[in-house]
Amino acid sequence: MRALLVSKWTKVAVFLLCLIPFGDLVWRIIKSDLGANPVEFLQHATGDWTLRFLVFTLCITPLRRLFNLPDLIRFRRMLGLFAFFYVSLHFLTYLGPDQAFDLAAMWKDVAKRPFITVGFAAFVSLIPLALTSTAGWIRRIGGKRWQMLHRLIYFAAVCGVIHYYWLVKSDVRKPLFYGLGTWVSKRRSQASVSVAAPRVSVNG
Ligand code: HEM
Repeated sequence: MRALLVSKWTKVAVFLLCLIPFGDLVWRIIKSDLGANPVEFLQHATGDWTLRFLVFTLCITPLRRLFNLPDLIRFRRMLGLFAFFYVSLHFLTYLGPDQAFDLAAMWKDVAKRPFITVGFAAFVSLIPLALTSTAGWIRRIGGKRWQMLHRLIYFAAVCGVIHYYWLVKSDVRKPLFYGLGTWVSKRRSQASVSVAAPRVSVNG
């Protein structure tokens, strides 16, 4: 198992897997296969994939502990960056088609609609994580501070779940499922802090 996890080909395979939802969207755009409301389709697909990648990223630490697979750490940065990639697309589908790239209108909407406010807070909190995801940044700001900063991912995931919960109103099963995923991985990660703490590397 270890040989598989440390192989560079596994990393390439995981990278390509993570690109499948994006490829599917591009293919649907080319084929004009986005349903009756293309903007809504894109917003929902990119929102769903953002939340999934946040939960995948959060699952790495508990899974490392549960199955005693420390090399799983090699995939955490990639998964986190894919969460950021999908939320950036999600944000663009809002800023472009919804707000016509009018930043003043966007700010008004962020202030007015609570579900947009929390979504925006989640997006903004992911920016420093994406920017400081390299080993160079761990050295620059120090492992401890880097780890504290990267706890923002829990804030982003919780805000993402609330954003989804406030949006759906009626059928709240899916947001609750993601919420449960975030809560379980947070608890498991805390329990595994003694295992994870010496390794702050995001490299692989
Ligand atoms: C980490 C951040 C975010 C996550 C996890 C997230 C997640 C989601 C999810 C899961 C949905 C619903 C998908 C579905 O119904 O299948 C959604 C919809 C939506 N999100 Fe986000 N989102 C985030 C940030 C944002 C931001 C920054 C904005 C805009 C400023 C935004 C605007 C919207 C809009 C406009 C919709 C569709 C609303 C509708 O159908 O009326 N989201 N988001």
